[in-house]
Order: sequence, then structure tokens, then C-alpha cells
Amino acid sequence: MKFSKYMGKWLYGEHGYYATYKDIGKSGDFYTAVSTSKFFGGSVAKYIISLVDEGFLVKDGVVCEIGAHHGYFLADVIEFIYTLRPELLDSLKFVIIERFENLQEFQKNYFDESFGDAVSLTHYKSLSELKCENAFFIANEIFDAFPCELYYKGKTAQVNGHEIEFDTDDEWVTSKAKKYHKDRGEIAVGYEEFAKEMTLACKKFEFMSFDYGEMQARPDFSIRVYKKHEVIPLFDEEIKRDELFASTDITYDVTFAHVKDAYEEAGVKFIELKAQMLALVDMGILELLEILKENVEDKIYKQELEKAKMLIMPSFLGERFKMIKFRKD
Ligand SMILES: C[S@@+](CC[C@H](N)C(=O)[O-])C[C@H]1O[C@@H](n2cnc3c(N)ncnc32)[C@H](O)[C@@H]1O
Repeated sequence: MKFSKYMGKWLYGEHGYYATYKDIGKSGDFYTAVSTSKFFGGSVAKYIISLVDEGFLVKDGVVCEIGAHHGYFLADVIEFIYTLRPELLDSLKFVIIERFENLQEFQKNYFDESFGDAVSLTHYKSLSELKCENAFFIANEIFDAFPCELYYKGKTAQVNGHEIEFDTDDEWVTSKAKKYHKDRGEIAVGYEEFAKEMTLACKKFEFMSFDYGEMQARPDFSIRVYKKHEVIPLFDEEIKRDELFASTDITYDVTFAHVKDAYEEAGVKFIELKAQMLALVDMGILELLEILKENVEDKIYKQELEKAKMLIMPSFLGERFKMIKFRKD
């Protein structure tokens, strides 16, 4: 089978990694910015309010998270909107796109416990079910979770059992590899369809997404497995793919030029790609930390500051992660 099918089964098959309940963060296999600090969602909340003030997002517009897993990101966004502009919670419509029913259930319970009736939350299994006029879409680490093909010097990989062999000619994969100057590496499958679905779902929107990668990813394999915070390259000589299959996370560096092209082909304007730490500073993370300092005990402030620093320190999530933003109006 094609590698993208194998990876699809690994992550999203009946017993796939994301199809069964998984913790993200300290007790899981990997950290994300969401599991690091609430000020990630807080900064996005401040940005959403600025979009309302600017007139781009109407007060009763949709705020939609895609690939929310536990829903903690959107919940953090809502918590900060409540602090900064509580009246918006009565009008904004919150949506999560989540294909797995068990995760939808988890998210519903978490929102009920956190907000009771104060917030309206709607679920859809896919973007193709959503129809709206005006929205703000957010996602964290979804583009590195799309299945991909593997390419090596003109050949595309096939998987037999758990063995990977580069023995197939695939025109589409080869053309993408040439376009992104890769003689070897991953070619994501599904960005084009996803971008089209978003444009069909909503007339006027902004989409902000955070992921690990570069505009032009280096021409090498970055595909790797995360197991209890250990990183194992997929082509490691010692790897036991049969044991890791579906029980660990599998991911790769995002080629943002591919995401950008997919959105531009769908008629959406690319706004910017920048380091996550710069994006968070632009959106006001430092002002939010200032507000916290004025309102809580020093001990709590210092705890939150340490966590938020992880997002904006070059050595951790801040520099390696990027924010990409698109607009359609
Ligand atoms: C690495 S996890 C990130 C989870 C969460 N956003 C966070 O930051 O903790 C990747 C998530 O993206 C979701 N995902 C991947 N492709 C998707 C797609 N095409 N549509 C919706 N969700 C998708 C997966 O189901 C999974 O929940």
C-alpha cells in the first residue's frame, strides 16, 4: 500500500493513535504549545478581539478550532475572552471540527464543566459540514498530522507489512517533490482538499495555524515517531515499526510552501509565516502577562510566567514553531 495509507491507518485507523483516547503533555507522548501554557490560547483570544474591533470578524461570527483533541486550546481562548471582553461570549459561536466521537464527547464534557451554559459549542465531523458567512479558524499542529507520501530520488514508497520500499513511479508525488526542491522527504497528502473545504465552508475568514517546519523544509526525511517523549526517526536502523504502529504518534516537518500553495490555489490570500514566539508577542502575550502580574499573587504569576516563557523562548517551542496566517474576504 502507499505510505500515506499506512500512515493514515497508524494515526486514524480503527485502532489508530488518535482514534483511541490519548493524553498530550507531560503524561502523554509529546508536548504541544497548548499543553505548555494557557497564554497560548490567551494571545489568540486577544487577537480575536482585535479582529472584532477592526470589523473583520462580526460579533456573532464563528470561532472554530480544527483538530482540537481535548479542546483545551479553544477553552483557553474562551477563558481569556471572558476576562478581556466578556460580552463577546454571548454572541460568538464556538465550533470544533473533530472526526472522532469519543473526543467530541470529551470536549463536550470539558466545556460543560468549564463554562456550563455560558458558551455555545457546536461539533462537526469535517469542515465540509460547516456553512457560515464569517469566521476565525485556528489549529495547532494539524498539518504535521496529515498522512504523507515518502519520496526518494524519483521513487515513491510502498509499504509491505511494515517494510518501506521506494519502488513506485508516482507523477503527483514527483511533481510536488520537484516543486519543493526535495530529492528525498515527505510530501503531505490532503492540504489541497482541506484548503478547498475551508473556502466552501465560509465566505469571509481568517485562518491561523501553528506547526513545526519551514517555508522550504530541508531536503531530507524528518518523519519520526514520538513515544513517551522519546523521538525515533522512522528510518532508524533499530526501529521496530510493527510495535510502534498505531500506539505512538508519527509526524514530520511541515513544508509551509505546500500549505501556502494549497490555500492560494483555493483563492485564499497568504498573509504571513513567522516564528511562533514573534507571533505571540505581536498578539500581545507580554501585555497579558502584565495584566496577570497586577492581579494575582507573585507566586502564581511566577509559575505562569515560567510556563509562558517556554512558548516565547528561542530554545524551546518559540523558535522552532511557526505561525501561518491566511485571509479570505
Ligand atoms: C498533534 S495533534 C494536535 C492536537 C491539538 N491541536 C493540540 O495542539 O494539542 C493533531 C490533531 O490534528 C487532527 N487532524 C489531523 N488532520 C486533520 C484534518 N484533516 N481535519 C481535522 N483534524 C485533523 C488530529 O485528529 C489530531 O487531533
